[in-house]
Amino acid sequence: MKKAIITGCTGQDGSYLAEFLLQRGYEVHGFKRRSSSLNTERIDHLYRDLHEPTQFIPHFADLGDGSSLATLLYEIRPDEVYNLAAQSHVKVSFEIPEYTADIVGTGTLRILEAIRRTGVQCRFYQASSSEMFGSSPPPQNETTALHPRSPYACSKTFAHNITVNYRESYGFHASNGILFNHESPRRGETFVTRKITRAVARIKHGIQSTLYLGNLEARRDWGYAPDYVRAMWLMLQQDAPGDYVVGTGEAHTVREFVEAAFSYVGLDWKDHVVIDPHYFRPAEVDFLQADATKARRVLGWEPTTSFRQLVRIMVEADLQDIGQRVRGGFEQIGAGAHV
Ligand code: NAP
Ligand code: GDD
Repeated sequence: MKKAIITGCTGQDGSYLAEFLLQRGYEVHGFKRRSSSLNTERIDHLYRDLHEPTQFIPHFADLGDGSSLATLLYEIRPDEVYNLAAQSHVKVSFEIPEYTADIVGTGTLRILEAIRRTGVQCRFYQASSSEMFGSSPPPQNETTALHPRSPYACSKTFAHNITVNYRESYGFHASNGILFNHESPRRGETFVTRKITRAVARIKHGIQSTLYLGNLEARRDWGYAPDYVRAMWLMLQQDAPGDYVVGTGEAHTVREFVEAAFSYVGLDWKDHVVIDPHYFRPAEVDFLQADATKARRVLGWEPTTSFRQLVRIMVEADLQDIGQRVRGGFEQIGAGAHV
C-alpha cells in the first residue's frame, strides 16, 4: 500500500486529494494545524475512530514547525508528499506579509529540508500558483516570465524556485503544479466565486440583499477543483519530475461570474452588487489564462467541467446548504455580507 502525506488536508484541495488517494488504496496521512475552533469540516467524512483500522490518519503539523515536520516524515516514510498548506488568500497576504512568506515560502523549504536531512525517499508535489505570473500577459505557460504582484505570489515564487533547486541540486523527484484558479462548493467563503455563490443563495432565501465586491474586471481561468487534484497525482506518477501549468484555457471576468450566478436563480445582479474599494488590492493581477498544452500532452490531463457547469454546481450547492441552515435557524439575516 502506498503512503502519502498531504499538508493542508483541511483545505479545499487537500480534502479532494485525500478522497482521490483513498479511492486508489493509499494510506493517507493528513497534516492539519491546530486551531481553537474546528477546522475539519471538509474532511470529517473521512475520519474513522482511530482505534479501528483506518487508511486516513490525521496528524497535527504546522508549516512553521520544521522539527515536527521532519519527525513525522521520518516516522511515516511516505512514498509521496503533497505540499498544499498555505496562507492562500492574496488580499490577506498584503495584511500579513511576513506570516505569508514564512508559511508559504519558508514552510516549503522546511519540508524539502526535512526530506533531505531524513533521507526519506519520496516524491514531492509543490502547490505552485498562476498568481506567480502576475502581470505577464496571457496565455501563460511553463516558459512565461514570473512577475508576482503580492506577498503571496512572491512567497509562492520562492517556494517554486526552491523546489526546482532541490530537484537540480539533490536529484529530488520534485514537481511544481502551476495551477490556475480552481473552485468548488468546498471553496473558502472569502474567495470571490464562493463569496458570490453564497451571497446569491442568501439573497434568494431572503436573508441578504447586498453583495459588496471589489474589482469586477479581473479575468481568471476558473476550473473545477476535483479535476486539479487528479493533475497533482499524475505529476507524481511520471518517471521524471517536472513543472506543469494546469488550467482550462478559458478566461472570464469576475463580472461574468457574477452575471452567470445571479441569472441562474433569476436575479439581476445590478440590483444587489455594490462596489466597495475595501476589496481592491494594492496591486492587481488582471488577466490569467492557462496554456496547459504540456499537461495535456505529457499527463493526458483534461478538465471535465465548463465555466457554466462550475457556476451551476456552486450555486446549487449553496442554495441547498443555505436553505438547510435557514430552516434549522442557523443562518442569520445580515451575517455573511462582510467576507
Ligand atoms: P485552502 O482551502 O486555503 O487550504 C489551505 C490549507 O493550508 C488549509 O488546510 C489550511 O488550514 C492550511 N494551512 C494554513 N496555514 C497553515 C500552517 N501554518 N500550517 C499548516 N497548515 C496550514 O487552499 P486551497 O484552495 O485548497 O489550495 C491548496 C494549495 O494550492 C495552497 O497552497 C494554495 O496556495 C495553492 N493554490 C490554490 C489554487 C486555487 O485556485 N485553489 C490555485 C493555485 C494554487 P486551515 O483549514 O486550518 O485554514
Ligand atoms: N476575494 C475577493 N473578494 N476577490 C474579489 C472581490 C472580493 O470581494 N471582488 C473582486 N475580486 C477579484 C480579485 O481582485 C481578483 O482579481 C479576483 O476577484 C479573484 O480573487 P480570489 O477569488 O480571491 O482569487 P485570487 O485569484 O486572488 O487567488 C486565488 O487563485 C490563485 C491562483 O491564481 C487563490 O486561490 C490563490 O491561493 C491561488 O494561488
